[in-house]
Amino acid sequence: MKNTDNLKIALFCFKLNNSLRFLSSQNIQLVWVWGESNSRSLPFSTTVCEGNIITPRPQTQLIGTQHLLKVFVDAVINHILEVFIKMTEKIKLPIGFKEKYEKLTNWAEFGKFFYPVEKSIRVNTLKISVSELRKRLEKKFKVIQIPWCPEGFWISSRYKNEIHLGSLEESEQGLFYIQEAASMIPPLVLNPKPKEKILDMCASPGSKTTQIAQYMQNKGTLIANDIRKDRIAILERNLKRTGSIAVVTMQPGQQFKDVKFDKILVDAPCSGTGTIRNTLNFKDWNPETFERLSFEQKSLLHSAYNILKKGGLLVYSTCSMEPEENELVVDWLLKRHKKTNLEEITINLKRSKPILTYNKQKLDTRIKKTLRIWPQDNNTSGFFVAKIRKL
Ligand SMILES: C[S@@+](CC[C@H](N)C(=O)[O-])C[C@H]1O[C@@H](n2cnc3c(N)ncnc32)[C@H](O)[C@@H]1O
Repeated sequence: MKNTDNLKIALFCFKLNNSLRFLSSQNIQLVWVWGESNSRSLPFSTTVCEGNIITPRPQTQLIGTQHLLKVFVDAVINHILEVFIKMTEKIKLPIGFKEKYEKLTNWAEFGKFFYPVEKSIRVNTLKISVSELRKRLEKKFKVIQIPWCPEGFWISSRYKNEIHLGSLEESEQGLFYIQEAASMIPPLVLNPKPKEKILDMCASPGSKTTQIAQYMQNKGTLIANDIRKDRIAILERNLKRTGSIAVVTMQPGQQFKDVKFDKILVDAPCSGTGTIRNTLNFKDWNPETFERLSFEQKSLLHSAYNILKKGGLLVYSTCSMEPEENELVVDWLLKRHKKTNLEEITINLKRSKPILTYNKQKLDTRIKKTLRIWPQDNNTSGFFVAKIRKL
């Protein structure tokens, strides 16, 4: 070992010592492991909500190394600095945030889930069987079945280090698709079958299109539409990688006319507040946006309804927790189109009560059949799904 290496190791030990002292004064427990690991992640296990402030708290962190190599020394120092930054960072909640969710859910429970969801994948059965891919992944990772999706698995490292699923050869070969566990629900509710004629109205990047294609076994007609050219390119890449067959169109969903579909998925553009636990992006949280999006969502749903065959199935979903983008949109459709009904969603997961009264407005009682899940229900993102039948 060269002198410079010794110097770096000494510097590292000095910094590490200071860091450890600081961390233990903050009740952060660092576990030092001599063994195989090259931890790069800083998972945050619990978050405390006090008033309007959310404080992320790092969980017990495993840092491992076989040798104090200089590359690794740098990496570890970076990790510790990251812990410092994140720990001292207090997130100021926007005005009205706490007040809104306090009325809609259990605020204390909700606040415990402000940390990123576990990574998950969906096996692409167009290319490989579930059991075969599971066996391959189990050689490298901890693999846990997602109860509501036979092809879905949570994937984590055995050593708590960060994993990069996108760079695995199985991902490049399209053997799996990285997809959040709750996002697998809408295609399950749509229940696509071979030979059907199906429209995915807001399709990019294609997580749900590729899931629909695999359930259709690439037989039938699947149209994947999106309004944005840049996102169409991503959609096409994902279809190609996974070997999913779909006709790609680019237009506002509202412009579909003179065609009729057996099933339509409207996975609508939304505020994405159900995923706020991953991004901690509170600065874009704005009730005015919810109203604007609600208008677009209603118009997409209305157009979808018009091009649905009689007896056809329309699934509406968002990764938003806002009643304006969910129950109120469905209520609007039910009022506007009398020959409509909502069907029960029989997916095996914990759910919360849909919102039936909002700002003194009483909604159609059939809305109780919709699926509303909060992050704390199943440790996923927040999601909303409605199963709408055209009579
Ligand atoms: C929530 S994302 C869809 C995610 C996608 N279904 C998936 O699971 O990968 C909503 C998409 O709707 C598209 N979009 C927004 N307005 C639209 C419109 N009027 N017509 C069609 N697509 C639209 C956006 O470009 C965006 O890609």
